[in-house]
Amino acid sequence: MGKLRVLSVFGTRPEAIKMCPLVKELGTRPGIESLCCVTAQHRQMLDAVLEVFRLKPDWDLDIMTPRQTLSGITSKCLLGMDEAIAALKPDLILVHGDTSTTFAGALSAFYHQIPVGHVEAGLRTYDKYSPFPEEMNRVLVSGIADLFFCPTAGNRENLAREGHTGDNIFVTGNTVIDALKTTVREDYCFETDELNRLPYKDKKVLLVTCHRRENYGEPMKNIMLALRQIAEDHPDVELVYPVHLSPVVRESVDQYLRGAPRVHLIDPLPAGEMHNLMARCCLVLTDSGGLQEEAPALGKPVLVLRRETERPEAVAAGTVKLAGVVQDDIVTMAERLITDKSAYQKMAHAVNPYGDGHACRRIADAIEWRFGLREERPADYET
Ligand code: UD1
Ligand code: UDP
Repeated sequence: MGKLRVLSVFGTRPEAIKMCPLVKELGTRPGIESLCCVTAQHRQMLDAVLEVFRLKPDWDLDIMTPRQTLSGITSKCLLGMDEAIAALKPDLILVHGDTSTTFAGALSAFYHQIPVGHVEAGLRTYDKYSPFPEEMNRVLVSGIADLFFCPTAGNRENLAREGHTGDNIFVTGNTVIDALKTTVREDYCFETDELNRLPYKDKKVLLVTCHRRENYGEPMKNIMLALRQIAEDHPDVELVYPVHLSPVVRESVDQYLRGAPRVHLIDPLPAGEMHNLMARCCLVLTDSGGLQEEAPALGKPVLVLRRETERPEAVAAGTVKLAGVVQDDIVTMAERLITDKSAYQKMAHAVNPYGDGHACRRIADAIEWRFGLREERPADYET
């Protein structure tokens, strides 16, 4: 019998950061041929990750266009996947999380009657339009998937409530923690010189990111004005913001935040730079999913610039708080952490609800077990 051909499909920066370690782990298994197809829903931000992990895709759909629409991404991915599947003939397709690439990758696999493994399965807000379109993407992928790799037991419970209860559901931890273990180093020296010069010890370095579609418009304006106010009112704060390449985000940043004192607006950072900056900063303000998982593992408090989160585990552990999208609320919550040492210390403890760094091994073991290449089902990850 030939090797099991496992095709990992991804296209955006976060999917790449979370899937590259898995593609590599699968490549170490003697019974598996690990292949990788990128949709390039992101181009520069994807390529930067591929470079960090030294991964060369077997297929590249190269679909990105400026200001792309959801239907544009989905339809181009579907057409491109037809060709990739015909050429690479996978036995299993892996998709990750909740992007348009994820949904189109899973739907395409279904059209070709190829089993689907969903990595980072079972996250939910139960709000159809928030995060948009991610909540619906992951619900739809759950309807298609054959194997579910849940980061946490809570994610498995969400799936159980929707009737997914078989032995095809695995709790593995999140592969982002595997990635973090390869990138963060105490003696790390930044390639971006500006980051080497930041006063990590003498001042409070706040790390910011913001990009979500449901925050476009008024919420993003409120967030930018809140960041401006925080920087203006606190001379002991330096705010570092690697700005997403989305033109919608850049317009908002330019209109409401650029020019504020002590605000460093920089280009998106390579993953290694970002992870090490996070490890050295004081506080994270973000609407990102990935940062909500990474920062707690590094003991950094997070204020989430959204109304809700599908990642309640770190909120329960006390390192993450929802700040919402109202200017005054964000300013009040950030100021408390900047000025009140004990409030800060209460949030600044390292917790690892999202993984122990061995998620890729568990997922690869689960795939081997499911396809008869291993006798024992891997044990679930327990926090
Ligand atoms: C996408 C995902 C979102 C994920 C985010 C991670 C969807 C619908 N959205 O949102 O779930 O959280 O990625 O960052 O799947 N651009 C570039 N170069 C790049 C990347 C983006 O120029 O390398 C610009 C392009 O103009 C592009 C725009 O950003 O059209 C938006 O990219 P898109 O993938 O549609 O949306 P994101 O907000 O990045
Ligand atoms: N990230 C990065 N460079 C940046 C901003 C983010 O490498 O300039 C990483 C971050 O550490 C995390 C992932 O990108 O691993 C999160 O991606 P993003 O916020 O774009 O998407 P989300 O997680 O919200 O889907």
